[in-house]
Amino acid sequence: METKIFKPDEVEAAAKLLRQGELVAFPTETVYGLGADATNEQAASNVYAAKGRPSDNPLIVTVSSIEMVERYAQPLSDKVKQLMAQFWPGSLTIVLPLKPGTLSKTVTGGLDTAAFRMPQNQVTLKLIATAGIPIVGPSANTSGKPSPTLAKHVYHDLNGKIAGIVDDGPTKVGVESTIIDMSVDVPTILRPGAVTVAELEQVIGDVKADHHHVGANEIPKAPGMKYKHYAPSAQVEIVDQTADFAAAMQWAAQQDETIGVMATDDVLAQLSVPQNVETYSLGQDIQSATHLLFAGLRHFDLESEVKVIFTEGFANTGLGAAYMNRLDKSAGGMHFTK
Ligand code: TXA
Ligand code: MG
Repeated sequence: METKIFKPDEVEAAAKLLRQGELVAFPTETVYGLGADATNEQAASNVYAAKGRPSDNPLIVTVSSIEMVERYAQPLSDKVKQLMAQFWPGSLTIVLPLKPGTLSKTVTGGLDTAAFRMPQNQVTLKLIATAGIPIVGPSANTSGKPSPTLAKHVYHDLNGKIAGIVDDGPTKVGVESTIIDMSVDVPTILRPGAVTVAELEQVIGDVKADHHHVGANEIPKAPGMKYKHYAPSAQVEIVDQTADFAAAMQWAAQQDETIGVMATDDVLAQLSVPQNVETYSLGQDIQSATHLLFAGLRHFDLESEVKVIFTEGFANTGLGAAYMNRLDKSAGGMHFTK
């Protein structure tokens, strides 16, 4: 199958494919998602096959209206309504208890909850509304690879495996949505994202964070947390102190292979970069770094062969919590030490 690229004004054709049970990737403000009719079990199971995704890792249900959520979820609590009013459409995914028997086990992984999200992209909201059905929306990458922030990343991973990609340019945020579990007594963040703990607490009071690294024998709250993630072919190493980049460059200069560096412009400007080191700018600040993190990792995978990618660490607060969560997974927890 040749994967067709749709422009934003071609959503009608893309919606038709979705209704026919085909897979179509779509843009959101976080990362590109892989869409399929969430009410069609065969379509949903084809998503696992296309991504190479473990079958016990449930799919996000992507909607264009709150009414669509109410078809499947138990009556919404006041706190859930407040979250939707404040953050939807946007980078917040909300785990809710389901009405029994409404969504297939293929979508829910056998859980009695599902994760719902209304993304902030006009083209995608129109796509879902036109199709008239919620669509599953895992990130549109091969399982284990960095999430796609450009249509060409999706094409690279899934060409020939899916019917189409709606291309609406680069995504804005660059990492996946915040996931909050509202099916438990104390609202719990399962994955940090652009919507921060402080912003959530302003709306609904105390929330708990539960996105520590999950061990192999542990049952994680968000099943996806136990798998290897966002990993390019090269080893990623986190550089926590900008002063340590100098030592990293000294180490790099002694290597026979090419070495990569991803850092903000200020850091790069102060480095003396050896011949065998290639740099990738993360822009000015934590916003641009988050926006460019996955694209940078993919850049080194596709455009050059490097052995190690030294990547700038940020403070673990606000958007930095989302950035560091993804970077830590890319690096398999590896930090550069002098
Ligand atoms: O920004 C995003 O959320 C993107 C865009 C495309 O919408 N989607 C995304 O989907 O990141 P995915 O499948 O890559 O990550 C969804 C995570 C997985 O870790 C999964 O285990 C978890 O959500 N999840 C899904 N259903 C769940 C549930 N009922 N309870 C807890 N976690 C759930
Ligand atoms: Mg993913």
